[in-house]
Parts: sequence; C-alpha cells; structure tokens
Amino acid sequence: MDILEAIFTRRSIRKYTGEEITEEQLNIILRAGFAAPSAHNKQPWHFVVLREKKTLENIAQVHPYAKMLPQAGCGIVVCGDSNVETRPGFLAEDCSAAIQNMLLAAHGIGLGAVWCGLYPVTRLTKSVTGVMEFPEHIVPIGLVVIGHKNEDKQTIDRFDAEKVHYEKW
Ligand SMILES: Cc1cc2nc3c(=O)[nH]c(=O)nc-3n(C[C@H](O)[C@H](O)[C@H](O)COP(=O)(O)O)c2cc1C
Repeated sequence: MDILEAIFTRRSIRKYTGEEITEEQLNIILRAGFAAPSAHNKQPWHFVVLREKKTLENIAQVHPYAKMLPQAGCGIVVCGDSNVETRPGFLAEDCSAAIQNMLLAAHGIGLGAVWCGLYPVTRLTKSVTGVMEFPEHIVPIGLVVIGHKNEDKQTIDRFDAEKVHYEKW
C-alpha cells in the first residue's frame, strides 16, 4: 500500500476474527516501530510482544478500554527506558512515534490495529507494570492491539482549515 493511502485510510479496529498473525507480519510491525524517529536518536523503546491467551486476558482485565485484546490475539506494549530519556517528555514522544509507525505498518499489510493508551494514566501504567513485571526504569507508554479485522471502517477526511495557521496565529 502506498504511504499516503495508508495514512489516509487507517482507522482504529476493535473487532477481530481471532485468526493469528504470522511471525512475518509481527516482524514487519516490529521493524516499523524500530524505524521511528526519536529525540537525539536515542531509540529508548522496548517492545513487549503478548500472544499467550492468559497474558492477553490479564492485560484486558486491568485496562478498561483494551477488552478486545484477547480476541485480537496479539498485543505489543511499547515501553520507554527512562534511563535513556534525555529530557522529560521525550520518552512518550519517541514511543508514540514508534506506535504510529506500527499502526500504519499493520494497516499497510492488511491487518487491523488500535492504540490503547497507558501513559500518563498512572492507574494503567501501574497495573501494566505489575502484570508485566517491568523494572522501575521501564515506563509502559502504549499498547498496540493487532489482529485480523472483523469490521470495516469508512475513511474520514478530518482536514479542518480553521486549525491551519500560516506564519502566525
Ligand atoms: C494516546 C491514545 C490513546 C488511545 N487509547 C485507546 C484505548 O484505550 N482504547 C481504544 O479502543 N482506543 C484508544 N485510542 C484510539 C482512539 O480512540 C482513536 O484513534 C480515535 O477515536 C480516532 O479514530 P481512528 O483511530 O479510527 O481514526 C487511543 C488513541 C490514542 C492516540
């Protein structure tokens, strides 16, 4: 799929068939995450792949808006290493760039995906840290839920000329 087509047609998919994604598909999505830009090129991310039913259920239990995770069959928790953060805030920005790359890659290869937020909701980051046994310097930023689509979503044009400013406000 062409990059612009991918950007303009990507939607959050929350209904899945349950069919497993392949290792090759997972690998493409991970590589897309690693390809993201990052402040000072620190690449502070870690990607925790979740595929076991029990783990998917455990995360769905603590995240009220990620209940689709077990049905999707695959989740990737994108975490940042706070020891590598150069300035407060960059960790979340870097990991968010990786997440968006992964969403687009999943869409580009015909899969469905949705970004489930973790950071900065302390309740969620704490719960996920507990379930995943993250060390203290690892901050879970977001969860990418991935699977085979079981819904079709319309493309939406969100361009809003009132939010575009030229030269000054
Ligand atoms: C930081 C962030 C957190 C989000 N958290 C959730 C979530 O927990 N569960 C969910 O189903 N969707 C979540 N979303 C997806 C948004 O609801 C979705 O992107 C938005 O409604 C626009 O729809 P679209 O992705 O189909 O264009 C999140 C998106 C972002 C960027």
